[in-house]
Amino acid sequence: MAVVEVNPTEKVVIEPPQAGDSCLLIIFGASGDLTRRKLIPSLYNLACAGCMNPGFEVLGVGRTAMSSEDFRSKLREAVSKSSEARNFSESNWKDFESRLHYFVGDINDHQFYANLRDRLEQMERSGSSANRLFYVSTPASTAEPIIEGLGEAKLNQREGRWTRIILEKPFGRDLDSGRKLNQVVHNVFDETDVYRIDHYLGKETVQNILVFRFGNSLFEPVWNRNYIDYVEITAAETVGVEGRGSFYEETGALRDMVANHLLQLLALTAMEPPIAFEADAVREQKVQLLRSIRPMTIEEVAQRTVRGQYGPGEIDGMHVPGYRQEPAVSTNSAAETYAALELYVDNWRWAGVPFYIRTGKRLSSRVSEIRVHFKPTPQALFAGTSHGQVATNVITLRIQPDDGINISFDVKRPGDQMRALSVDANFSYQATFGSTGPPAYETLLLDSMRGDPTLFTRRDEVEAEWRIITPIEEAWLKLPVPPFPNYVAGSDGPMQADSLLAGKHREWRSLAR
Ligand code: BG6
Repeated sequence: MAVVEVNPTEKVVIEPPQAGDSCLLIIFGASGDLTRRKLIPSLYNLACAGCMNPGFEVLGVGRTAMSSEDFRSKLREAVSKSSEARNFSESNWKDFESRLHYFVGDINDHQFYANLRDRLEQMERSGSSANRLFYVSTPASTAEPIIEGLGEAKLNQREGRWTRIILEKPFGRDLDSGRKLNQVVHNVFDETDVYRIDHYLGKETVQNILVFRFGNSLFEPVWNRNYIDYVEITAAETVGVEGRGSFYEETGALRDMVANHLLQLLALTAMEPPIAFEADAVREQKVQLLRSIRPMTIEEVAQRTVRGQYGPGEIDGMHVPGYRQEPAVSTNSAAETYAALELYVDNWRWAGVPFYIRTGKRLSSRVSEIRVHFKPTPQALFAGTSHGQVATNVITLRIQPDDGINISFDVKRPGDQMRALSVDANFSYQATFGSTGPPAYETLLLDSMRGDPTLFTRRDEVEAEWRIITPIEEAWLKLPVPPFPNYVAGSDGPMQADSLLAGKHREWRSLAR
């Protein structure tokens, strides 16, 4: 296949993002994995890029007793080794670490919240920012005591300051618990102050879906059931459960990846144009779309979903254990590490168009992408003379890696015959702009400090997501568990996933690279 490169029509200067407001970021779960792997490296990068307000500080909260000095040196160790931190240097770290403080406490102890309030007031008296950004880095479903404790200690108040809370997914386990959690959050915080993180929304390529769709008049007229045959959405990983066996036993791939990241990708691909690029206008359209996805009956779940679990295999020439051999995983676990679904959107634009979505761990390559397959041309003018097939165009929105977009179309093959050749117009962020844009957590942390909730999930979106996922989870509990493990690590997932598309002249794109 020939490749056509895409070039920008003007010279691009990438400006650094604007700094956030001054604030004190209070991290619950400060000695945890997320703080070490994502939050602190992202904050460090933002500080090095000059995007951090001089009045920005962190107060890490955790049960482990340690001093602020110990906290800093633990984080220094983590950040200096992290691949997420760009250009680690001792002098940059020295500047940055002076903003880090630690406070020991048990989130289940009522007195802790009064102590925290005293500490925050004392910091404020010594010149720290009055704005407070609480970051609950434990899963939102275990966050209830923290949210209630903050409310009881009146740490949710906004007079003379802003007070916001960031929550990590999963936001509940099903529709009922998701609603209950939302209620607990709303008893204490106003929805406008709640920032639910789905880090996929912070990815540059995910934001680009909206620009591609609504910034170009070329694609919008054909973006519907009249021209589109089906849409394929993939989030494949080569990693296993990475030491999170007990989390995965509880969660599984459907709750971990589909209930949020993949449904958000679907919503952005299929939603109607918002009236403006404003938080509520965008989120309103996403909610409408999510609500239009048809929930499945148990019979439909049996036919239109496939779950899988990896067995031992090879990835990049290395032997890797099966899921059931991972630490903290039961030897007869029924948790899925792979899920594939066929979903339908019941609205005028999409009636009858299947959306095939799949995600899995320990697959043959790491790739997240959305492939929009167009219908064949109505008449096969060149079918006999070309590569023997009627042309179908495919637009691939490459989320990661190799961030960019491909558009495939047919052109005349040089020569005296009317023969067609498929070419691929390729836009690559790296080749065009020299970089792929800031990592998702940097974008999202900065947005939360600037008070822009556009890229965060709203309460009704979460409930709309659970409305689709809960019937599948319930049906899976009733239906026989497939003979797990049913795919080899390093493969493209269970063979059964092919049957979702079989007989329709459609197929999943092979993941092998
Ligand atoms: C997280 C999931 O939300 O996303 C992980 O909990 C998964 O299981 C990760 O590995 C994938 O994120 P990314 O950005 O690497 O695609």
